[in-house]
Amino acid sequence: MAEAVSSVAWWEEAVFYQIYPRSFSDSSGSGVGDLRGITAHLDDLVWLGVDALWISPFFKSPMRDFGYDVSDYCEVDPLFGTLADFDRLIENAHALGLRVIIDWVPAHTSSDHAWFLDARSSRDSARRDWYVWRDPGPNGEVPNNWASAFSDGGPAWTLDQHTGQFYLHSFLSEQPDLNWANPDLRAAMHDTLRFWLDRGVDGFRADVVHNIGKDAALASVPAKLEKIPHCALNDADVTHDFLRDIRELLGSYADQRMMVGEVFLLDVERMATYHGRGDELHLAFNFPAIFLPWDAAAWRNCIDTTYGVLERHRAWPTWVVSNHDFSRQRTRFGGGEDRARAAAVLLLGLRGTPFMYMGEELGLEDADVPEEARVDPGGRDGCRAPIPWEVESPHGWQKEPWLPFSPKPAERSWQAQRSDPDSVLHFYRRLLVHRRQSPALWSGSFEWLPTDEHLLAWRRGTDSDERVVIISFADEQRTIDLDGDYQVAVSTKLPDEGQVFRGEISPTNAIVLQPV
Ligand code: GLC
Repeated sequence: MAEAVSSVAWWEEAVFYQIYPRSFSDSSGSGVGDLRGITAHLDDLVWLGVDALWISPFFKSPMRDFGYDVSDYCEVDPLFGTLADFDRLIENAHALGLRVIIDWVPAHTSSDHAWFLDARSSRDSARRDWYVWRDPGPNGEVPNNWASAFSDGGPAWTLDQHTGQFYLHSFLSEQPDLNWANPDLRAAMHDTLRFWLDRGVDGFRADVVHNIGKDAALASVPAKLEKIPHCALNDADVTHDFLRDIRELLGSYADQRMMVGEVFLLDVERMATYHGRGDELHLAFNFPAIFLPWDAAAWRNCIDTTYGVLERHRAWPTWVVSNHDFSRQRTRFGGGEDRARAAAVLLLGLRGTPFMYMGEELGLEDADVPEEARVDPGGRDGCRAPIPWEVESPHGWQKEPWLPFSPKPAERSWQAQRSDPDSVLHFYRRLLVHRRQSPALWSGSFEWLPTDEHLLAWRRGTDSDERVVIISFADEQRTIDLDGDYQVAVSTKLPDEGQVFRGEISPTNAIVLQPV
């Protein structure tokens, strides 16, 4: 049995809820969600039972990557409101007992950022070295074979005609990579952290944070990897030094400020190294899980690998099944609402910090976005569809929002589901409320229970509390033998709740059991 970690840190026990602000709630009538829209719905999130919010970027930006191209780290984009709106959001959230972390985009800025405008103005400008510049080869070649994201394997370099050098961009050419090897740049980025820490944020989700350090030689990758976006391969030792400095900075503030890193390396072993010896990231997203099919063996394997590796690194696991970059779990897994509910039990029943993505609680699918309405350079519009709040069109938005709604916005709206005790929304709420009451679920050990290959079953326990979680991936009824007597605390099928568990589990059913 995996050792029970005695969790003291809030971020180990919390359930995070990701808000993609453009699509959450619009208070201004612009058709784009904003900070006041978030503040207006904090009560709903408290009712739902989440503990912490992660808010995707709302900083000043030309929005070529919808806010992940920041042109001023310390300003709110007017589309989202003002700094005063943000202060009010934090104040209200804290008063309601919600923690708030914000997105920090340290690996690149927008090409509109004043730092880049200065850097590209001349080869000897004060901030030239804050970005990564290289001369063209003798025949004008790019400096190496790294590919950028969103470009079908196109180069991660763009020639700046004015100064005759290439600059590095792991994403769009409008997102130049910062040069963390430069100490002044590091100091300036530390200042951006302090700016928000001083305003009271509880921490940060650090965007592609494994991409801040670069191999000093900028060596080409083997030819077979050259079409893979370099941001999925970049893994330079020096990043660990930068992360230790950041951890120290966070530690200099009271109240356990934290950082969860987007370490997009798709290899748990590599990802795990970014926790250092407890002196780098507090948490890192476990991305292999976001690519898994609805398949018991695949999940068993991923869970075993994750726990095995992270235990060796003494790191606390995280789980995520949807976010603003990938298809929603319901769309990806297929199988309709039953499977979407079962996936919620998986996410919230494992040992580790779960990150929900807004709209999961409504069982939303991706929107089918017609060609002419597509706006994202990475093709991710479908999972970013707006949240339907009300039954009546335009569903709590003042006008048609910036992207179309996902299917069945009226019946899946918060309003419709809140008045139906058997809705996905109420199911999430029961699961979250139950999780909060059970130390076994938020901090307990994890132990597999024997089952046939179509089920996953595990026990979570502390000295004084125990839960069993069972998830069926089968299309027909299955049975399981448990030692001891249990009752169904939470079930994807509402009528089963409160019943004595008789060892039978119906198709695609997922349950949390409590000893009686
Ligand atoms: C991260 C973000 C993604 C963004 C990219 C570039 O992967 O999650 O949305 O496009 O970084 O900043």
